[in-house]
Amino acid sequence: MEKKIKIGLIGLGTVGSGVYKVLQNFDNIEIVKIAVHNKKKKRNIEGLDESIITDNAYEVVNDPEVQIVAELIGGTEPAFDLIKTAIKNGKHIVTANKELLAKHGEELFNYAQDNNKVILYEAAIAGGIPLIMPVKTILAGNKINKIKAILNGTTNYILTKMDVQGASYNEVLAEAQDLGYAETNPTGDVEGFDAAYKITTLATIAFGKRIKFENVYREGITKIRPEDMKAANEMGYKIKLIASAELDNEGKADVRVHPMLVPKYKTLAHIDYVTNAVTLSGNPVGEITLSGPGAGEFPTASSVVGDILAIVSELGKTDYILPMMRCNHNENAQMIDISQTQNKYYISICANNKTGVIGKIGTACGEHNISLASIVQKEVKDNCADITVITEICKEKDMLEVIETLKNDENILNVNSMIRVQV
Ligand code: HSE
Repeated sequence: MEKKIKIGLIGLGTVGSGVYKVLQNFDNIEIVKIAVHNKKKKRNIEGLDESIITDNAYEVVNDPEVQIVAELIGGTEPAFDLIKTAIKNGKHIVTANKELLAKHGEELFNYAQDNNKVILYEAAIAGGIPLIMPVKTILAGNKINKIKAILNGTTNYILTKMDVQGASYNEVLAEAQDLGYAETNPTGDVEGFDAAYKITTLATIAFGKRIKFENVYREGITKIRPEDMKAANEMGYKIKLIASAELDNEGKADVRVHPMLVPKYKTLAHIDYVTNAVTLSGNPVGEITLSGPGAGEFPTASSVVGDILAIVSELGKTDYILPMMRCNHNENAQMIDISQTQNKYYISICANNKTGVIGKIGTACGEHNISLASIVQKEVKDNCADITVITEICKEKDMLEVIETLKNDENILNVNSMIRVQV
C-alpha cells in the first residue's frame, strides 16, 4: 500500500477548516495532528477526529511523524518560532502568513535553505489567485518591472460601496463590520498594512531583490471622501487602494500602498467588492492581469493545498526540493524614497470665491515646475469654492511644497485631499 504523507496543521479557523475539508479528497495524504487555540470551541467539520487535536502547537512541529506543517494562524509570534522549530525538525512548511513573510521572510527562507527545506506561501498573497508559482516558474524568463495590484478585499469592498452608494467611509465601514466583511479593529486592512505585507513579498520575488517592509510607503483609505469618489468618476477614474511596485532603469525599487485614481480604461478600475487583482508588466510577456478571490475558506485552501501537493509530488525524489520556489534573495533592493518619486496628482481645494484664487493655484504650481492637466471650479457651497486640480507628472516633494504654500494662503480654506493618479 502507498505510504501516506503526514501533515500537521497549525490553526483550524476559516482557512484551516477549508484546508482540512479539501485534504479529505486526497487518499495519499493524512492529517495526523492539528493545533488549535481553544480545544473546547465547537467546529462544524464533519468527521473531525478529536483525538488528533491539541492546544499546544509545539506538539505539531515536534511530532516525528509530521512531514509537512501548514501554518495557518497568522501574526509573527508564535508563528515565527513554530516554523523555525518545524524546519529544525526536518519538516517542509506551507504558510498563509503574509505579515510573517514580510517582516521575517529573509531569515526564514535562508534558514529553510540551510536546512534543505522549503517554505511555500501561495495563500499569503492574494488568497486563491495563483500568483507566486506562476511568477517563480512559467514567468521566470521575464524581467518584471512593474506591479499594480488590489491586494486587500476589505478596503476594495469599502471603496466599491462608497462609490456605488455615495456613502461616507465611516458609514460603509460600520455596515461592512455588521456584515462581517471588516474586522472590529479594521486598522490592518484600512491603513494598508495587509496590502503592504503582500506587496513586500510579491515585489521581492518578482524583482529578485529583497524589499524591506519598513521601506514600503503606506497610506490607507480612511481619508477618502464621497466627494473625491464623485469627482473621480466625473473625470473618468475610480479610486482604489493600489499596491504598487516599480523598478527603474537603474534597478532602484519604488514600492508603496496608497489610494489612487485609476483610469476607467484600466482593468483594475473594474475590480470590485472583495475581489483581488494583480497586473504585472514584464519583458517579454507584456502586461497580464490575474484576478480572483483574495480571501475566504475555500479560495485560500485551494492555494494551501496546491502548495502541499507541490511538496508531496517532490518528496523523496531529490535532496533539493523545488529550487524555483525558494525565496533566498540576499541582494537588498535600493529603494526610492516617496519624496523623490514622480506622480500625477488629484487635489481637492476649498477656497474663498475671490478674484485671483485660481491664478494663485496656477502660480504656486508653476513656481514648482508643476504643469496642470486640468483645473475645475464647479460650485460654491457654504462659502466654499470647490476646486479640483489634476496635475501632469511631477515630483512628490514639489507637490507637497505647493500644498504647504496653498495651505498658508488666506483665501484657501482647506486642501481636502491629495490622491495620486495612475497613468
Ligand atoms: N484581510 C484580507 C483582506 C484578507 O481583506 O483582503 C486576508 O489576507
